[in-house]
Order: sequence, then structure tokens, then C-alpha cells
Amino acid sequence: MTPSSTGPERLSGVTAIILAAGVGSRMGAAEPKVLHPLLGRPMALWVLESIHTVVSDPAILLLSPATAALHALAPKGTLRAEQPEPRGTGDAVRCALPALPAGATEILIACGDTPLLEPSTISALIAARRAAKVPLALAAFYADDPTGYGRVELNDAGRATRITEERDASPEVRESDLVNAGLYVADRAWLETALKGLTASKATGEIYLTDLVAAAAAAGSPAPILLGSGADFEGVNDRRQFADAAAALRERVNAGHMERGVGMVDPTTIWIDPTVEIAADVAIEPNVMISGTTTIGARSRIESGSRIHQSQIGAGCTIRSSDISESRLHDDVEVGPFAHIRPGCDIGAGAHVGNYAELKATTLGVRVKVGHHSYLGDTTVGEAANIGAGTITANYDGVAKHATSIGAGAFTGIGTLIVAPVKMGSKSKTGAGTVLLEDLPDGALAVGVPARVITRKG
Ligand code: UD1
Ligand code: CA
Repeated sequence: MTPSSTGPERLSGVTAIILAAGVGSRMGAAEPKVLHPLLGRPMALWVLESIHTVVSDPAILLLSPATAALHALAPKGTLRAEQPEPRGTGDAVRCALPALPAGATEILIACGDTPLLEPSTISALIAARRAAKVPLALAAFYADDPTGYGRVELNDAGRATRITEERDASPEVRESDLVNAGLYVADRAWLETALKGLTASKATGEIYLTDLVAAAAAAGSPAPILLGSGADFEGVNDRRQFADAAAALRERVNAGHMERGVGMVDPTTIWIDPTVEIAADVAIEPNVMISGTTTIGARSRIESGSRIHQSQIGAGCTIRSSDISESRLHDDVEVGPFAHIRPGCDIGAGAHVGNYAELKATTLGVRVKVGHHSYLGDTTVGEAANIGAGTITANYDGVAKHATSIGAGAFTGIGTLIVAPVKMGSKSKTGAGTVLLEDLPDGALAVGVPARVITRKG
């Protein structure tokens, strides 16, 4: 997906209302459906993002008390309105009317549970209504499986005369596979009047937005339909459809990266958030997840089983089956296999972090080696230091966290335990199994438990 805010030909005077106040009970989840993240972005905000590509005016998120949290995740300037109770899509649009800006003359209505909606479909629908000079136009498609959708009935001229929800449809109408996509565009003044005329369904007590279609036809202006492809309008009502939508978005995002030169042998197992930037000539192996605001520099290689979140990875890095979060790796860093880089790390160019190493809030200078089985927390390591296998910083005394500083060119022997706060000087060394309780001068060697300094110069 391209970011929204630029683009010269965006339309103005069009205000979108995104319906996101429904319960989504078919998901069987405590969290409301429209908040469920697809590639890290709540479902309804995919719809918002597509709309912003086409329309410049801020959109209105129509929320319930349960989905109110969505607004804080939306781009700045997004408007909001509230539907206190889920009394149907028609009631939802009524609740959004007070939030309409004075200058809005055309209203686009989209469902927050159709995350695959493409910008080109939105602009085509707006154009279709303008061309037909009618108060209402809507999108429809022929569904492979029409279950759950409203059926659209057409007149001889191919205009919509009525939408019947599946539960209310006669067996004959149910046979039809032309279904309502849930995307509408209407003249504002007409919409405000027509909404007043809607009445609640006898079967469900809900007010259906779809009854506007019969209203337009009765007034002599049946709505033209924009015939789209089902893939674009796939509504997400249950977990199976959610997984389908996630796969479709994953494919779109990955296709964009491959077009820009990112290598993926098996894109079906690679999950990348739309907020991730990857340079050309990066290679990504199967079973990788990259999320948040992450960047990956040219020629880096992300090997199988890695998860990278909210991190900056430089050029020429190799990440093997490792977990990296909220950290920065400079160029030519090698990590893993099976390393854990926790938030707040900054790893210098050419550094190597080997298997079963864990780093937290730690800065490694250039060419530092943390080869095997080490834990460094709240630690700063100077250039080209070598951290021996199983070196552990005891940074937490049960009450507070303490810092460790390891000087440039220092060397820790296997199994060194550093009881922070401790400062090891540059080119200082520890022997195997040292338990270091005190600072070590530059060039000194310390051994034993507790450690004693046996040489002053390295
Ligand atoms: C709706 C349409 C159906 C169409 C389908 C397309 C109606 C009556 N039916 O059915 O014709 O084929 O979408 O996907 O409109 N919402 C609210 N407040 C409410 C109820 C719903 O904000 O009171 C929101 C939901 O969060 C959702 C959207 O409106 O984003 C659609 O609601 P949903 O209950 O999923 O409608 P469908 O049964 O799928
Ligand atoms: Ca739906």
C-alpha cells in the first residue's frame, strides 16, 4: 500500500463514513472485529487508508463505545462519530451525519470490515454516480459463495431496485449471486432526507442502510451499480474470512516489495507490515515476520524463523532465526542463529551476536563479538571487544537495574559473571569463570571468585 497523504488528483468535497460500530459477533472474539489487526493495522484502518488515497477530505470513523479506541490509531485529523448501540447500518449512518463538515456534498459510505477495498474501486464508484447524475450508486459483485451478503435485484436497465438481506430473502432471491459489496456513494442532501424515511426491519429490529436502494428506485432514480471483483470486497465476518483477508493483504504487500527488488523464495510464509521499508536486493527466507516501523538496508539477508519488530537494520546484515525488537543494527552486523535482541539495543557495524545470546538496552561498538550463550543487559561495550561464551551481566539486584561498561578491546573469559554496576577498562581481561564485583582498570587481568586483579597491564 502506498501512504495516503500525497497525490495530486485526490477528490475534495467527498466525505467518507466508515462504519465500524458493529459487534462482529461471528468472530467469536472479545475484541471488536474492526479492531483486529491485519499485518499490524486494524481492519477498519485498511479501508481508511484506501479511501485517503482517493479522497482528500478527512473521513469519519463511526464507532461504538467498544470500538472507540480505533480513533487514536487512525491518522491525525480523522473525524469521529458515535453510534451508542448497534442498531443497524442505516442507524449507523444516521449517527454519523452530525459529524459531516459543512463543505461535504458527496458522501462515501464504506464498511469497516472490507479491508481489501482498492482505491481504484472507490474512484470508479464516485465517477459512476457523477456520470449517471443520480442520488445514489453502489458497488456489487458476483460472489462465488453469496452466503451472508445482501442480494441485489436489478431492473431491465441494470440498475438496482432493491437489496434484500439473506435472512429476509425468498428462496428465489437467495438463488441470486449478485451481492451488495457494502460500498455506496450518495448525494448528501438526498441521503439526509432518505435516511429519515428508513424503518426498522421486523425480523431483526435493525435499520438497514440497504433499504436506501429501494427508496431511490421508488423515487424514480434507481442506483447504478459498479460491478467489481469479489476479491476486492471480501467482507470479514468470521475467522476463516479473516485469514483469507490477511493472506490477500500479505500477497499485495509482498508483491510490492518483490517489484522493488526484494527477494523472496516463498512469499506465502513471509509476513510484512505495510509500515516496513525494505531496500532492493534484500533476501528474505521463508517463515519471517517483519512488523512495525522497521527499515532494512540493501543486501541484508533475513533468514528463516526471524521476527523483526520496530527496528532499523542496516545494509549487509545477516539475521539468522532471531528475534529483534525496538533496536538498531548498523551495517554488516551478523545475528544468530537463535539470538534475542530486546528493546533498546544499538549494535555497531560489523558486530557479531551469536547463538543463544540475549541483549537488552545494550550498545555494542563496531566489530564487537558476543559469540555464544551470553546475556548483556544495560551494557555498553567498546569497539572490538570480545565477549566470551556464557558471559552474564547480573544487572538486577532484586531492586534496581545497574549498568555495565566494557571498554574497547576488552576480553571476557568463558563464564564470566559481571555483578553490575561494574566498569571494565579498555583492553582489560577476565579469566574463565571470573565473578567480577569491582571495576577493572585499563589493561588489567582479573581472575577468580570473587575476582582479584593479577596483572595491571594487558
Ligand atoms: C452488510 C450489508 C449487506 C452486504 C454486506 C457486505 C446491511 C444491512 N447489509 O451486511 O447487504 O452484502 O454488508 O459486506 O447493511 N455496523 C455498524 N453499526 C451497526 C451495524 C453494523 O457500524 O449497527 C458496521 C459493522 O461494524 C461493519 C459494517 O457496518 O463494519 C457492516 O456490518 P455487518 O453487520 O458486517 O453487515 P453484514 O451482515 O455483513
Ligand atoms: Ca460484514
